[in-house]
Order: sequence, then structure tokens, then C-alpha cells
Amino acid sequence: SMDSKQETKPHAVCIPAPAQGHINPMLKLAKILHSKGFLITFVNTEFNHQRLLRSRGTDALDGIASFRFESITDGLPPPENFDATQNVYDICRSTQEKCLGPFKTLIAKVSESLSPVTCIVSDLLMGFTLDAAKELGIPEFLFWTGGAGALICYELYPKLVENGLMPLKDPSYEVNGYLDTVVDCIPNMHGIRLKHIPPFIRLINPGDKFMVEFTNAQIDKAKTASGIILNTFDDLEHDILSTLASVFPPCYGVGPLHLLENQIADKSLSSIGSNLWKEEPECLKWLDSKPPSSVVYVNFGSITVMTHQQLVEFCWGLANSNHPFLWILRPGLVSGESGALPLEFLKETSGRGMLAGWCPQEQVLNHQSVGGFLTHSGWNSTVESLSSGVPMISWPFFSDQLPNCWLSCNKWGVAMEIDNDVKRDEVARLVIELITKEKGKEMRKNAINWKEKAYEACAFPCGSSVINLEKLVDQLQTFSK
Ligand code: UDX
Repeated sequence: SMDSKQETKPHAVCIPAPAQGHINPMLKLAKILHSKGFLITFVNTEFNHQRLLRSRGTDALDGIASFRFESITDGLPPPENFDATQNVYDICRSTQEKCLGPFKTLIAKVSESLSPVTCIVSDLLMGFTLDAAKELGIPEFLFWTGGAGALICYELYPKLVENGLMPLKDPSYEVNGYLDTVVDCIPNMHGIRLKHIPPFIRLINPGDKFMVEFTNAQIDKAKTASGIILNTFDDLEHDILSTLASVFPPCYGVGPLHLLENQIADKSLSSIGSNLWKEEPECLKWLDSKPPSSVVYVNFGSITVMTHQQLVEFCWGLANSNHPFLWILRPGLVSGESGALPLEFLKETSGRGMLAGWCPQEQVLNHQSVGGFLTHSGWNSTVESLSSGVPMISWPFFSDQLPNCWLSCNKWGVAMEIDNDVKRDEVARLVIELITKEKGKEMRKNAINWKEKAYEACAFPCGSSVINLEKLVDQLQTFSK
């Protein structure tokens, strides 16, 4: 049973959306809140709970008395393969339809067994949790794990419709140059084109229709939360954050979360990690053997799926660049049964190319041998790369990755984009530019500048994210009384 100290703590239930890019930053946020005196109940789906036990060891989620793990169903039949990435549409639909009941039951259970839940910190895509919060009279703060820029794109969807830019009338609009149309109604993102608006909301396929309605509903609901938390910092997205503040409840930019976590999280929690795939730390040893800033680190995150042809183009692009590379090939990265790499490619790049299935990314990006990052521009990867002063080549796949790519290339000067229809010559050219040419040097300088700003934001006692965190904690506690 709990000692009386736990009972007087505010009790936060933290519930991420069930995907890698959401669990990682929520775990960091939870650890930070824990260091500020909160009792934490961290809720994964049963499937991800099992995956974490498998990738990190059976005692990985034991936690400590003031940091507990729980799980609820995701409402889906168990996937046949533990390394499979769950389908985004299925998981959004299923959690929305099936999870409210189990979530309420869980709140009741931990309120009884630990101490009454005083606040809920939920992923913005888990809007059903707000229904529970309202019903139970518990305040809820929502965590948007993407950037502020992406959030404003989603928020402005009705305006894009009003202006006649969306929905696209038929799939031919995807290819006939229409996507180059400049969108001029998004404040602070002047010059952005339709092709960098999250594809989810372009509305072409039947699947997208659900995602449009789903995202609109989550955004509308978010406006009724007690506050919005973002893994960004004021200097990076200052104007966009001000715009957001005019349409949403108070917004707190408390990023980069991994920098805050490293400074203030309780060391007794440091063995608790969130990688769903097993990390291969040998990558770091291999990096030790390479000269400073010479290696291209290639990783397309947890959800991207590419065709065999795209894989082959990346292979020969990397081979022809003649630069060393560390390429993370996540199980499931290539669609169908066609994940095998060309033998010729393996022969030609042996010694110069290191391949692995999953890596400790923050450490890789901070390794002095890494000179650039070929990325899908997921928000976590973007923030981690900026915080390490590493410039990027961006091959966005879906959702917020498109505006992230646009911001990285056009506002922050830290990235170059590769066309979705990727060609080996383009890959080789951009890699050479990134690692050895003037443009690469300039982007590296910009990235290092963002790194300094990121550290300033997380510096005690006056960094913007530190101050925002204090305000957030204060609100979470006030509401909790
Ligand atoms: C997606 C979205 O694009 C993102 O913006 C959203 O907020 C969450 O879901 P994902 O494909 O998972 O993201 O990419 P990203 O946001 O970059 O997150 C991946 C996380 O996994 C990062 O924290 C990264 O450090 C970690 N990672 C990835 C590893 O630790 N090792 C790896 O090999 C690959």
C-alpha cells in the first residue's frame, strides 16, 4: 500500500497516443512532472505495454512507488507480428470508439488504489479522454506531440475549405501541379504551398475522409481543454505560438523535452525507456571509428513505409555519394515482402555502411561523427536534430512531417528536401552537398545556432521552456486542489 507521502501528491494520469513518436515525448513529460512532485500513472495500450516488456526486458515497466505503469485495451484484435506498426487509421478509429469505458474504469481503479487522480495529461489525438475528464470533473491538459506549425495547419482546415483550396476535387490534383499553389491564409507560414499541408486533410481517399473528420473533431475538442502542451520552444516557433494562443487555451512550449528531462528527471527513473523496437547500441561503437562530421545518419522513424523501388534508389544514392552512412532499417519499413537490399549494394558499401534495425537516436545525433541526418522530418526527430546541431535532408512521408519539412527548409535554414519520387542521383547529390559543400556548412551553422537556442530555452532559471514549465506545473497543481 502507498505511504502517506504519495497520497498528498497531485496525481497525474499521462496517456500517450499508442505510437512510438507519441510515447517517447509523453514519457519525458511524465518524468519531468514526476520531478516536480507529481505521482504519475502512465497508461499504454496493452499491445504497446507488451512490446515494451519485450524490447526492454520484463522488469522494464516496474517503475517506482511514485511512477506507475498501467495499460488499457486499444480495441483492436492483437496484430500477428510484434514488430508491426499499427495502422494509423485503425488505431485512431478504434481508440475513439472503444477506449472511453476502459479509461474511466482505470481512473476509478487507480484513484482507489493509489490516490484520487487530480489531473489528466493526454495526447491531443486521444480526445475521448476529455469526455472522461469532463464526466469525472478532472481537469485535462492536452499534449500535441508535433510542432506548433503543424497544429496551425490542422486548425486552419476550415479556412482552406472556405478559400476553395481543399478538399482536392479528384486524385489528378495530386499530380498536375495544383499542389504548387501557394497557400496565403496561414499566418506566419507565408509561401507554404499546398503540397506541404498535411496530406491527411486533402481528402482524396475514403480513408482520408475519416482522418479529416477525426482530426477536425480532436482540434475542436482541444479548444475545451485546460491547456495545450507542446514539445517546442519560444525562439523556434515564436510567432506561430502567439497565433495558436489566440485560438486555443493557454499553450505551453516546454521543449526540447529531452533537454529538460536530462537536467531534472529523477535518476531513479533513468532505466525506464520507451523504445518499442530493440535498440542496437553497436552503432555507437561503429560511429567511434569514423572522422568527425563525416557520417550520414539515415532514419525514417516509426511509421514511414516505402516501396522497394524507393529503397533501391536510396541504396544507390548512398552508395554513389561515397560517404559513410548509418542506416536504420526498421522491420516493416519496406512495403510487402520486398525488404531485401541489393547484394551488389551490400558488397560495394561494406565497411562504409552500417545497417541496424533500431538505434538510440538521441545518442547517435549527438555523436561527433554524424555530419547530417537523412530524415522523414517527424517532429521528435526534427527537434532532436536541431538540439544536436545536425543539418538534414528531408523526405517527409505524411501528416505533420510535410509542414515540419517546409519549416526546416524555409524558415530555419537547416534542411534540403528530396522529392517523394526519390531518384538515386538526387540522393547522392544532396548527401555530398550536406556533408562537404558550402550549402551544408551554412545549414550546419544554422543548426548549431538552433542548438544553442534550444539549450538556452531549457537553462535554469530563466529559459523560456523552464518558465513555461513552471507555469504549467502551477496550473496543474492549482486545478488539482
Ligand atoms: C510521427 C510524427 O511524424 C510526429 O511528428 C508525431 O508527433 C509522432 O508520430 P515518427 O515516425 O514516430 O513520428 O517519428 P518521430 O516524431 O521522429 O519520432 C521517432 C522517435 O523515435 C524519436 O524520438 C526518435 O529518437 C526515436 N527513434 C527512432 C529511436 O530512438 N531510434 C530509432 O532508430 C528511430
